[in-house]
Amino acid sequence: MKRLLITGASGLLGLNLALAAQQEHTVLGADRCALSGVPFEQICLDLLAAGAVERLFEAARPDWLIHCAALADLEACEADPALARRLNARLPGELAAACRTRGVKMIHISTDAVFDGTKPGRYTEDDAPAPLSLYARTKLEGEQAVLTANPKAIVARVNFYGFSPSGRRSLAEFFLNNLLAGTPVRGFTDVTFNPTFVGDLADLLLAMLAADLRGLYHTVGAETCSKYDFGRAIARRFGLDESLIAPASVEGSGLTARRAHNLGLEAHKLSTALGRPLPSFSTGLERFYAQYQQGYPQKIRSYQQPG
Ligand SMILES: NC(=O)c1ccc[n+]([C@@H]2O[C@H](COP(=O)([O-])OP(=O)(O)OC[C@H]3O[C@@H](n4cnc5c(N)ncnc54)[C@H](OP(=O)(O)O)[C@@H]3O)[C@@H](O)[C@H]2O)c1
Repeated sequence: MKRLLITGASGLLGLNLALAAQQEHTVLGADRCALSGVPFEQICLDLLAAGAVERLFEAARPDWLIHCAALADLEACEADPALARRLNARLPGELAAACRTRGVKMIHISTDAVFDGTKPGRYTEDDAPAPLSLYARTKLEGEQAVLTANPKAIVARVNFYGFSPSGRRSLAEFFLNNLLAGTPVRGFTDVTFNPTFVGDLADLLLAMLAADLRGLYHTVGAETCSKYDFGRAIARRFGLDESLIAPASVEGSGLTARRAHNLGLEAHKLSTALGRPLPSFSTGLERFYAQYQQGYPQKIRSYQQPG
């Protein structure tokens, strides 16, 4: 059992990860007091406040850190580049340096969006990043800052879906909420990615820490598909009307931040390092559906502090 510090514990990844990890580890979840009634210890602080990194480590005394906090909304990054740089580029390097000094094993969460999406096949860790948006640029700078400050750290490039405290954070929730309401939506046929169930991602991250990996890893499930196909698969599994999802192109969709077309990642390096197959899309979708049946969306929303 380790003392596991998770930043961004009120976010989509952070909260799901904290709930999964607290079954085996002592979880310290850092957030800006956005949660109540969670089954793990909370540390309330703004990570950008003066002296926050020092206070965080003193309060948590962790063995492991998984840094999930970020400005993860692409449009919000375009609207406030200075905040994006502080949170996504500078803070990860400061945390990595603090981990090195204290002998704390760290995973920094990054993104598939560091690539421009022009490669015909899946991207490996050896492919050169070419970020298109401010979000992607600042996340790439964050990766570089982490590995420079702390070569023993892990950088995990991810893409995931699951139930969030707001009920609206993930692409799967977007499809599900609209399908349940009978509202027609568009699904991009020209954006491909490796959708990974957040519970599967949590398992991978904990295994990577236990295996004492270091360096850059694509940390995603085995299959690549389009956002349109992803939505249709959700509709089918939940017994909803898949014809409500119309095929569409991301071009001309009105989004400010530029999106890459192909964000398929090859995660062979990770499956080799862990000595196990990557999680499959179908088992992840089954786990997501089982959570739905067991009332997990209501449970996770109940942790959100009112106001
Ligand atoms: N969602 C995806 O599919 C996806 C894909 C690729 C990579 N990622 C990466 O995965 C990680 C987690 O993403 P997510 O979707 O879980 O994000 P999210 O739901 O937006 O959560 C972000 C978290 O960061 C916290 N945070 C932001 N500013 C903070 C500050 N100044 N001090 C303390 N906490 C702060 C937020 O706290 P508040 O609740 O107080 O705002 C929230 O807990 C990010 O690194 C993101 O870049 C996500």
